[in-house]
Amino acid sequence: MKPQPSPQPAAPGVVRFYNFLPPGNNFLEDVLAGLARPQKSIPPKYFYDEQGCRLFEAICELPEYYLTRAETAILRTYIAEITQFIGPDAQLIEFGSGAQAKTRILIEALQTLLYVPVDIAEDTLRASSGELARLFPLLNVVGICADYTRPLWLPEFAGAAIRRKVVFFPGSTIGNFTPAEALVFLKQARRAAGAGGVLLVGVDLKKDKTTLDAAYADSKGVTAQFNLNLLARINRELGADFQPSRFRHRAFYDPIMGRIEMHLESLYSQLVHIAGRRFEFATGETLHTEFSCKYSIADFQELGKRAGFTPEKVWTDPEQLFSVHGMVAA
Ligand code: AVI
Repeated sequence: MKPQPSPQPAAPGVVRFYNFLPPGNNFLEDVLAGLARPQKSIPPKYFYDEQGCRLFEAICELPEYYLTRAETAILRTYIAEITQFIGPDAQLIEFGSGAQAKTRILIEALQTLLYVPVDIAEDTLRASSGELARLFPLLNVVGICADYTRPLWLPEFAGAAIRRKVVFFPGSTIGNFTPAEALVFLKQARRAAGAGGVLLVGVDLKKDKTTLDAAYADSKGVTAQFNLNLLARINRELGADFQPSRFRHRAFYDPIMGRIEMHLESLYSQLVHIAGRRFEFATGETLHTEFSCKYSIADFQELGKRAGFTPEKVWTDPEQLFSVHGMVAA
C-alpha cells in the first residue's frame, strides 16, 4: 500500500501513527492456505499478538537465549564506532521494532531527531513508541503499523534535517526469513535506506547444536508457551477449535541447513475446524511455525552484496555468538 507522500514529521516528543495493515491482516487466508499444505505451516509473523509479544520479551531474558544479551553487549561496547560509522543527522528506521530496547542505545548516542519504527503489532508499537517519546523529548516518532514481509513504501518526511537514513534491523529477525526471502527483504531495506544510506543488522551466527537447541527449547518452557500461543490466537481471532494441550513444542537445529526449525507436533490423531473448513492431524504430524536461520559472517556479507549493499563493518562479541553488520547502500 502506498502512503501519502511527504507528511510533516510530528512535533518533537509527539508520536504519530500510520496503519498500513489490510483489515484482518490476511490472517485467515494465510492460516487456511498454510494448513492445506502437505507440510502444514503458518508464518512466524503471527506469533506476535499481545500475549506473543509478552512471551517473546520473556524469552529474551532467558539464560539459554543468548541472542539479546550478546547483541546488546555488542551495541554498548562499540557504540562510539557505530556512531562514527553512521555520522550525524541520521533518520532511524527500525523494522520489527517490538519493545525498542536496543534502539535506545542508538538514539541516545546518535542524538536522533526522527525515528520511524515499523511493526506488525500495533499495541506494542504504540506502547513502546510512547515510552520512547517520553524518554527523549526532542525525538520525533512516526510509528508505522505494517507487515514488512510484504512490499512497503515508507513516507518521506519533509522539514527534518536528515543527512542519511539508517535502517536498523536488530535481533536476528532476518533469520526468520529463508535466505531467498531475506534477499527480498534486504532489497526492500536498500530501497528504504536510499543511495548512501546505512543498514545496521543483527545476525545470529552458526555455532554448536547444543547451544542452539537449548536457546529454542528452554528449561522453563517459555518458548513452548510462545509457540503454543499461536494456536490460542487462532482460536480467539478466527474461531477455531485447536486444543493446545493436544500439541507439543518441538525445536531443533539442523546443521546441514544452518537453521532452527520450530514445530507444533500433534500428540494424537485429531481434527481441527476453522471457518467451516476441517483439517486432519495424524499422530506425530507437525505444524511448522518458524525457521531461525544462522549465518557465517562471510555468507551474510555475500547476501548483503546481492541486495545492493557494500559490507563495511562487522562487530561481534568475544565468543563470536552474534554479529552486527554495518553496510552501506551502493
Ligand atoms: C524474533 N526472532 C529473531 C526470534 C528468533 O530467535 O528466531 C523468535 C524466537 N523464536 C523462538 N525463540 C525466539
